Amino acid sequence: MPVISGTEGYANEADKLAVQYESFTFEALHKDIIPLFPKDAKKALDIGAGTGRDAAGLAGMGLEVLAVEPVAEMRAHARRLHPSPRIDWLDDCLPQLARVHARAETFDIVMMTAVLMHFDAAERALIMARVVPLLAPQGVMALSLRHGPVPPGRRMFAVADEDVIALAATHGLAPMLTLSGKRDKFQRDDVTWSRLVFKHRD
Ligand SMILES: C[S@@+](CC[C@H](N)C(=O)[O-])C[C@H]1O[C@@H](n2cnc3c(N)ncnc32)[C@H](O)[C@@H]1O
Repeated sequence: MPVISGTEGYANEADKLAVQYESFTFEALHKDIIPLFPKDAKKALDIGAGTGRDAAGLAGMGLEVLAVEPVAEMRAHARRLHPSPRIDWLDDCLPQLARVHARAETFDIVMMTAVLMHFDAAERALIMARVVPLLAPQGVMALSLRHGPVPPGRRMFAVADEDVIALAATHGLAPMLTLSGKRDKFQRDDVTWSRLVFKHRD
């Protein structure tokens, strides 16, 4: 089976990453963006859900969550760590998200935490074209980007915040929040993060 683009390295490292990704809380990681979520949000989509920290946080807020993760080893940790009846774990992948689209749903919150930098510019364009129609009219899309050297065994690209903002604009999204140069939670000096939050343009 060919490796799904973007997932390189994750299956082998799933056990280690399950500890790393769960070593901080959804609330702490997303403290800047949680206040921007629609107050009456009911459904969330977590794309590249990993070991489920964000999906579980959203479920804890009372939302029904569709958590998309193509790597079986990551999904297994997620199900084990976060056995919430509010979370539907789905084996699907960017850029097409064919199984998500087959459900013909829209979502009040769409999250892609630390995912988009795994794709080149052409793939990111396709991703935006497939993800934006999944966002409800009053919905919010929140993503983070990792900047710095490519970890061994991973597939990662240098992605400028401005490029993502410009791409989102071509799909009718406006930024609600842009935070750049955020320090890495694991104190890696050569890694920084940005956080981007979008909504449909009025
Ligand atoms: C850096 S991890 C972030 C995981 C999680 N969002 C978090 O913040 O803890 C990136 C995740 O994106 C997933 N991923 C990679 N390529 C993907 C693709 N083509 N479609 C969907 N998810 C993908 C990986 O398997 C991995 O779980």
